[in-house]
Amino acid sequence: MTTIEQAKETMISKGFLDVKTPEKMDYVAEINKLKKEKNAVILAHYYQEEAIQDIADFVGDSLALAQEAAKTDADIIVFAGVHFMAETAKILNPKKKVLLPDLKAGCSLADSCPPADFKAFVDAHPDHKVVTYINCSAEIKTLSDVVCTSSNAVKIIESFPREQKLIFAPDKNLGDYLNKQTGRDMLLWDGACMVHEAFSIEKLLDIYKEHPDAEIIAHPESPAHILKTAAYIGSTAGLLNYAKNSKKDKFIVATEAGILHEMIKQVPNKTLIPAPAEEDNTCACSECAYMKLNTMKKLYTCMKFELPDIEVDEEMAAKALLPIERMLALSK
Ligand code: 13P
Ligand code: SF4
Repeated sequence: MTTIEQAKETMISKGFLDVKTPEKMDYVAEINKLKKEKNAVILAHYYQEEAIQDIADFVGDSLALAQEAAKTDADIIVFAGVHFMAETAKILNPKKKVLLPDLKAGCSLADSCPPADFKAFVDAHPDHKVVTYINCSAEIKTLSDVVCTSSNAVKIIESFPREQKLIFAPDKNLGDYLNKQTGRDMLLWDGACMVHEAFSIEKLLDIYKEHPDAEIIAHPESPAHILKTAAYIGSTAGLLNYAKNSKKDKFIVATEAGILHEMIKQVPNKTLIPAPAEEDNTCACSECAYMKLNTMKKLYTCMKFELPDIEVDEEMAAKALLPIERMLALSK
């Protein structure tokens, strides 16, 4: 009797099936081949799984990825990140194909800001300008005066005169941190990232007691009680730079655990401890389930079949482009 596996092998050997069985697939070699054949560039966020970061042409924080997307001359942009990132790349490159390995790779923070509700909020405050964190949908961007990321937010906010009233959305934790940093009183949308919200202050302090020689470093999407404990607060790229340049050699890192891959590469002799999440009794680290939907297999298949690709309504893309371009101009 012929098993399915034997039948598949026969079909492959006769050339009827050109997709190799997953267990036989050398994804690294195949993806590199497709990259060359199709003049594709792989842009990856630091929260992606290790193999994806390793095969990417460029790994960065949200700002660096948007800047890279704005200047690439590749024909195809493969975005190993979440939907709003790929959507931003598409808005910047309406003529290029932008692929996302898994279309379901969303973002809890972006989801916490439904466009109809946000429009009503903006309409209720006509004397306010609107600053939105890049972690939001294209539709929210069309309601924004300027977009920001965690690495340029202070600069973007300070580009407005002090007397200008501002709305900040969707992240209330980042917004609260920015109000403190800039001395402003921005109206905050009540959104949050489920990964950064989940850090346990009790467990964090327990770890700190065990490692009093460590410094806590945190992403500003974390709630105020976590940020209060941090010696440094910054974007993923900021956290990397801080760990690299600080004289300390032990850090408790309060952001998504994917960042540890690049951090270990950059500071191999330092001790890095992931901050613990509330519910986590196993690996003591926080992972973004959306970011982790992308896998090497999905990266390969999306490049091979050029699907799923990101589509943005033309009119919406043109409107959403303006606040993104303002951000890029202010970030030079
Ligand atoms: P940055 O890499 O810009 O710090 O953003 C972190 C994040 O949560 C992306 O979803
Ligand atoms: Fe969104 Fe948070 Fe995941 Fe970043 S880590 S993609 S903000 S859910």
